[in-house]
Amino acid sequence: SPTLAEAAQRTGRYFGTAVTAGKLADPVYAGILDREFDVVTPENEMKLDATQPQQGRFVFTAADRIVDHALQRGKRVRGHTLLWHSGQPGWLNNLGGTALRAAMLDHVTQVVAHYRGRIHSWDVVNEAFADGTTGRRRDSNFQRTGDDWIEAAFRAARAADPGATLCYNDYNVEDRAHAKTQAVLRMVRDFKARGVPIDCVGVQSHFAGGNPVPADFEATLRDFAALGVDVQLTELDVEGSGATQAQNFRRVAQACLAVPRCAGITVWGIRDTDSWRASGTPLLFDGAGDPKPAYHAVLHAL
Ligand code: XIL
Repeated sequence: SPTLAEAAQRTGRYFGTAVTAGKLADPVYAGILDREFDVVTPENEMKLDATQPQQGRFVFTAADRIVDHALQRGKRVRGHTLLWHSGQPGWLNNLGGTALRAAMLDHVTQVVAHYRGRIHSWDVVNEAFADGTTGRRRDSNFQRTGDDWIEAAFRAARAADPGATLCYNDYNVEDRAHAKTQAVLRMVRDFKARGVPIDCVGVQSHFAGGNPVPADFEATLRDFAALGVDVQLTELDVEGSGATQAQNFRRVAQACLAVPRCAGITVWGIRDTDSWRASGTPLLFDGAGDPKPAYHAVLHAL
């Protein structure tokens, strides 16, 4: 039978995974990675605390190991992420106003320039909207530099690598009825209308008991695509096990397949034991590296 990547390629899509540099030497891990996936996202190695631990000192060692591993094997890389309220180094907390604004845009420019030509898609800005019913921006140091910080970041990223697909990435944007979904839709519509360079919305897709795959998931993907951007499912995991979990993974894959501009799916880790989630079994391979029912369900749906 085909691999996940081969099955996705039949409809012009990709199938990716988050990867951590420290596990590339694990032969089971690397074996599954190299066989099944054609897109790779560094799980933490491109975040701001990793790439600029001190102001002006850029460190790309760990991220480069992942990028090199992927590109040497003909895989593409999703860059994750340039600007996020979390994963920030201490020095950023001591800045504000125009100094923070300049440092923020310098970070975008330097990191995107370092990887120019090697990154398929960048998550330029991650999780900039608040949860709950307000639809407002999340309060963060970046947000306090002015409401236009997101578009400034996208413009800087475009200038530094005109060939990369530029994404806005968030969670709780899977349900059309959610205020955050509507707020991101409004932002993307506004950006497209004003010529802000955005190409894609990343829908994280972390699903759990309290956050099931919503009935209108496919409709939400269609709403984003209708604005003239690609949709990428960027961090998929689904808590649960067995046939129920498999059915949820199948529904996610079917939703992507039903939307022409859904460009691909990335799962947030390879084996259950690689997951960021404290408990549970949210991925496609078990701790021994064997494919689960959810794997077969996704493969069949692609
Ligand atoms: C997570 C990683 O998986 C963890 O290893 C790390 O400790 C924290 O970040 N949304 C995102 C990802 O955009 O960057 C997060 O990744 C998971 C939630």
